[in-house]
Amino acid sequence: MANIEKQSQSSFQTALYALSLEREAAAPLHVQLADALRRMILTGIAPPGARVPASRALAAELSISRMTATTALDQLTAEGYLETRQGAGTYVASNLPHISPPSRAPAPGPEPDAPTAPLPFHPAIPDLAAFPHALWARHLERAWRRPEPALLALPDPAGYAALRDAIAAHLSAWRGLNVSAGQIIITSGATQAMALAARALLAPGDKVLMEDPGFAPMKAAMRDADLVPRPHAIDTDGFDIESAARDCPSARAVLVTPSRHYPLGITLPLPRRLALIDWAARNGAFIFEDDYDSEFRYVGQPLPALSALDGSHRTLYIGSFSKLLSPALRLGYLVVPVSLLPRFGPALSHHQGASLVPQPALANFMETGEFAAHLRKMRRLYAKRQKTLLNALAYHLPDHLTATPDPSGMHIVARPGPALTKPDTVVGQQAEQVGLTLRPLSRYFSKHPQQGFVLGYAGFDEPTLEAAVKKLAGILSA
Ligand SMILES: Cc1ncc(COP(=O)(O)O)c(C=O)c1O
Repeated sequence: MANIEKQSQSSFQTALYALSLEREAAAPLHVQLADALRRMILTGIAPPGARVPASRALAAELSISRMTATTALDQLTAEGYLETRQGAGTYVASNLPHISPPSRAPAPGPEPDAPTAPLPFHPAIPDLAAFPHALWARHLERAWRRPEPALLALPDPAGYAALRDAIAAHLSAWRGLNVSAGQIIITSGATQAMALAARALLAPGDKVLMEDPGFAPMKAAMRDADLVPRPHAIDTDGFDIESAARDCPSARAVLVTPSRHYPLGITLPLPRRLALIDWAARNGAFIFEDDYDSEFRYVGQPLPALSALDGSHRTLYIGSFSKLLSPALRLGYLVVPVSLLPRFGPALSHHQGASLVPQPALANFMETGEFAAHLRKMRRLYAKRQKTLLNALAYHLPDHLTATPDPSGMHIVARPGPALTKPDTVVGQQAEQVGLTLRPLSRYFSKHPQQGFVLGYAGFDEPTLEAAVKKLAGILSA
């Protein structure tokens, strides 16, 4: 059967089985069924040649007697709408004119763009080709072919227990954090983790300090949670809580990326980390630590998380699998200090966490050590890609862009050289025309924007990066 025929056969069957016949109506059930089938044929939902389910199946699906189903089918056969083929069942008569079923009403706005493959320099894309598809499929199959009863029950709002265990082990090994699974809440990403922490600990209208420049989706999530984001300009050492608190003394929390400032890549020095912790303890405030890609450190060991230093337990750690595995997974988590856990009761009862489908697979993937092996493999790959990108920029655009090696991360920031006179936003638009996602640095700032570009390299192989830099050179030297 051609694809389209299969499709119309299945839409016909779906429509037929979705019929609801009214037992209380004046018209008998066989008349209602015959009317409905006739309508389906006349409107093209049941095309000529479509197979009509056998009376036994029809009766079972519609909860009617087999006699009712047979009477309706016989009636339509007598009228010429249906034909029986000896030994092969009943079909919509093939000599009827073909009527196309009504097309669906057009969507009110413009058609959404079909998703396209990420374009070079997109900063939030890991290498999706290197995603361990075969292993992942095996773990999904293992979890879901014969699911344990707990998987099918009402999910724990804090997430799948084995995944929380696996994350606790990962944090201890990679981030120097000693936490128990009971402190971990699975979310659908870092932004949801931040919103959940805000709902549990803050009140509408509370001011939250954040780094300027910073990650715009977090600012949007704060506004959605009725908080007031207060971006504060960072300096060459990153975020300075003393100057930020002078600017906004009533702030109730701060959101920071201390391991690797987003997007500039600065690591927050120890004195500033300690000052942050001290400020939170003195003011009864909270620190939200967004630790989104620290595992990808190319020089030395990943630095321990800020949360690991916080003896006053006011730091909430936010993790995400978007950059470590894929943004399509929509999996992240929040680590809550034990003393704050009781405050999460009401917020958790409204927490619509992440889908349970990928959670057991990810738990297995982590427990077997395959996740750690994948991270190590990606770390080697990304380190090479960063070098390739830096070399290509130095070769093709020595006077237009300057960029220096970064000890970690998945993107670099390139600053304008003496030959670049166009604003970064203009170059960004021109780059889009030639198939590049070139993020202007100025867009990451709330105030006092700086010029430059955020160039993601992790998701693109070396020939693609080389070709993309040549394209960019074409635009900049035009
Ligand atoms: C600074 C920062 N935080 C967090 C995330 C992850 O966000 P999510 O888990 O909501 O995809 C990203 C991903 O791009 C990021 O750049």
